[in-house]
Amino acid sequence: MSEEEKSKNTPTLRIEIAEVFKPLLSETYRIKFYYGGRGGGKSYAFADSLLLKARQEKLFIACLREIQDSIKDSVYKLLCDRISAWGLNDYKIFENKIENRFTGSRFIFRGLRDQDVNNIKSLEGVDIAWIEEAQTITKKSWDILSPTIRKDGSEIWISMNRENENDALWVVLASKPDARTLVRKVNYYDNPFCPEELKIQAEACRQNNPDDYAHIWLGEPLRQGHCKLIASHLVREAFEPKISEISSPLVIGLDIARFGDDKTSFCFRRGRWCQRFESYAKLDNVDVANLAHGFIQKLHPKRIFMDIGGQGAGVYDILKDRGFSEIIRGVYFGEKARQNERYFNRRAEMWDAVRDWLASRPPVQLPRDEELFEDLCAVNKRYDRHGRLQLEEKEEIKKRLGRSPDKADALALTFAEPVYDDGEPRLYGNGRLTYNDLFTQQQRSNEW
Ligand SMILES: Nc1ncnc2c1ncn2[C@@H]1O[C@H](COP(=O)(O)OP(=O)(O)OP(=O)(O)O)[C@@H](O)[C@H]1O
Ligand SMILES: [Mg+2]
Repeated sequence: MSEEEKSKNTPTLRIEIAEVFKPLLSETYRIKFYYGGRGGGKSYAFADSLLLKARQEKLFIACLREIQDSIKDSVYKLLCDRISAWGLNDYKIFENKIENRFTGSRFIFRGLRDQDVNNIKSLEGVDIAWIEEAQTITKKSWDILSPTIRKDGSEIWISMNRENENDALWVVLASKPDARTLVRKVNYYDNPFCPEELKIQAEACRQNNPDDYAHIWLGEPLRQGHCKLIASHLVREAFEPKISEISSPLVIGLDIARFGDDKTSFCFRRGRWCQRFESYAKLDNVDVANLAHGFIQKLHPKRIFMDIGGQGAGVYDILKDRGFSEIIRGVYFGEKARQNERYFNRRAEMWDAVRDWLASRPPVQLPRDEELFEDLCAVNKRYDRHGRLQLEEKEEIKKRLGRSPDKADALALTFAEPVYDDGEPRLYGNGRLTYNDLFTQQQRSNEW
């Protein structure tokens, strides 16, 4: 075909490539490694650049991923869509390959995991290998592929959304790139074509869950061994009002400030309805005990579970002295869990009970409170060497949050032990009164 015929058939459309991706076309590197979060434009820019290049010269292009059960898993469809979007009628689309009529360039699509030696050999003439979703590529696949792409001047293009700190190709290629490797990070805000909808989603995620945002939208790897105990959507769901009446007994969780900047928090929960929190700064033991005493008189809680590590022990003693030992229970966050084989300590056990409660049906309810949201979603979990659930150290959380998660700790305390509404009269007030007597007398005399 003559040059004239070629130019007649070939659209003169100028394909626009965002600045950050221009090195794909203009520079020579053995490895071109692009990584980042959702919506960075990696897939589109790689597809467009390859389509452009393959119109200019004869290229053998392999589009690779770790697993490809069918062509549907590959970038085949994306390439077809881009061919159609740009009206590139010089491309001919086959069932499982794409060719350029003029240059004779060819695109093929393969999964690496199930390649046998013969299949791999067929890749030896490849000019450009594009590895999409490269976070899933194993070291083993890479070790086979890398020496196979052996043609002089051949390039390996890699697009990756980071998964974790040990992503095989990241460790091998990008963590300490050599002179033949180009590494670029791209996020949605670098993508001039990023749809508004994605920007809205990214912003919502930034506000609701900064850790998810860093991973999903900024392309940060998940920190190893750290992941959230409580999913943010569970907390959001619990914020939706749904309960207006409840007969479950009141349980109060009391988290007592340990240091000057912490707050003393009370949590008031009746069964699946956590009704409110009250937080106070700078109280001494007697102040806290008086507040608790007041709540006992006024609200008739079935139990108050209080943290008796540090300061709390003093408060506990005062309340016990005033005759409330049937109602109050002391809990050490660090003590052995009730289910010792499942939990590293009591704190992990109680927090996991919160997670369980949030996921339970019928749905539960929390007061809408952004501080509480941050508290609940701040905590990372891991497993100790016995496979028991463990929470990250309070100090770590404090560093990230800028305070301790007092409200969530108070909520967790309400789960220290199951509380049954068994209606049994018991002795209160130094054993002189029953639970009912205590409050009926109280209502009559109205003093304490
Ligand atoms: N050249 C372009 N022309 C038009 N729209 C584009 C272009 N490049 C990117 N986009 C838009 O930006 C969106 C995100 O791009 P793309 O899917 O390539 O991102 P990515 O970095 O591969 O991220 P993901 O992890 O979401 O796959 C696309 O869905 C598309 O709407
Ligand atoms: Mg992509």
